[in-house]
Amino acid sequence: MEPVKAGLLGLGTVGGGTVNVLRRNAEEIERRAGRGIRITHAAARDLDKPRICDTTGITLTTDPQDVVSNPDIQIVIELIGGDGLAKDLVMQAIEQGKHVVTANKALIAKHGNEIFAAAQKKGVMVAFEAAVAGGIPIIKAIREGLAGNQIQWLAGIINGTGNFILTEMRDKGREFEDVLKEAQELGYAEADPTFDVEGIDAAHKLTILSSIAFGIPLQFEATYTEGISNITREDVAYAEELGYRIKHLGLTRRTDKGVELRVHPTLIPERRLIANVDGVMNAVLVMGDAVGPTLYYGAGAGDEPTASAVVADLVDVARVLTSDPENRVPHLAFQPDAISDLPI
Ligand code: NDP
Ligand code: HSE
Repeated sequence: MEPVKAGLLGLGTVGGGTVNVLRRNAEEIERRAGRGIRITHAAARDLDKPRICDTTGITLTTDPQDVVSNPDIQIVIELIGGDGLAKDLVMQAIEQGKHVVTANKALIAKHGNEIFAAAQKKGVMVAFEAAVAGGIPIIKAIREGLAGNQIQWLAGIINGTGNFILTEMRDKGREFEDVLKEAQELGYAEADPTFDVEGIDAAHKLTILSSIAFGIPLQFEATYTEGISNITREDVAYAEELGYRIKHLGLTRRTDKGVELRVHPTLIPERRLIANVDGVMNAVLVMGDAVGPTLYYGAGAGDEPTASAVVADLVDVARVLTSDPENRVPHLAFQPDAISDLPI
């Protein structure tokens, strides 16, 4: 069978990691997907920039339209970031009947309702596993693994940069700004790092998790959001003296009044598992009525951990492309015409 042809928008940390993982693990990926997955075209701003991946055999362009409008491309992988150009490109790809894979949580949290409605109309998939908690397959875990449960609440560390900063401040007494700079150099931070340190990135991710867990529309504005930018080395040290760790948590739960969403620094007793999740690692606790508590742990950012989730979505799309079109279930956060009536 012919390989599935994908076009990549963005060749930075995640785009480069995706090219590397697809090349290195081509054999396993083809076995799992039932056919090969080939990136034929890629767009970036500066074609002379050194890349973390080998782009041999990929047609490069500075114009994302060359990718989105190419009739041979079946899947558009959006790894540019932001919710301006990225939104236009994703909507165009859907309009042209192409499937979309993205790691862009800002885009899904803010415009997912509109994007999913367009995708449902066109019968295409929009997959976004990499948008939450990097390499942890948390979206698949909630949507598929816990499909038989009523989710009662979920809580976790869902920003790698913030957790890296808090860990380095505690373990090495480093300054906030110094660690943030390292997180940027390592490719963990957002293009605008205030998203990481002011809790906006975590709020985007929590919005997506809450939507999947409770079957509600995405409601980014409903999230109480507080970051870690006011936390000092002294705060971290005092917490430690009292037997606590400061962790930046996202939490969403059902209450009598509806669904609550909040993101803020939290004091956690040091004996708790989640207090010992350090560095760029993320962890999410999910409570289901049937299964009880479950815990998911892994790298929350970085090129290959995030690429692992992007490639998993590509495999899902490749499987769907090979299946009977009459029996496809649209692959969205929730089915727009089957929304739960839980208030928010
Ligand atoms: P980078 O900044 O490393 O990469 C962005 C890429 O997009 C670059 O290659 C850039 O080109 C390209 N680009 C930007 N604007 C344009 C344009 N107008 N036309 C063509 N290409 C353009 O970002 P990341 O890889 O870190 O992040 C990508 C997405 O993944 C974001 O949505 C982010 O939130 C998400 N994400 C990131 C994670 C991480 O660990 N970094 C983890 C999980 C999700 P050029 O290189 O030439 O400048
Ligand atoms: N900036 C994000 C983080 C990238 O640090 O968690 C992964 O979504």
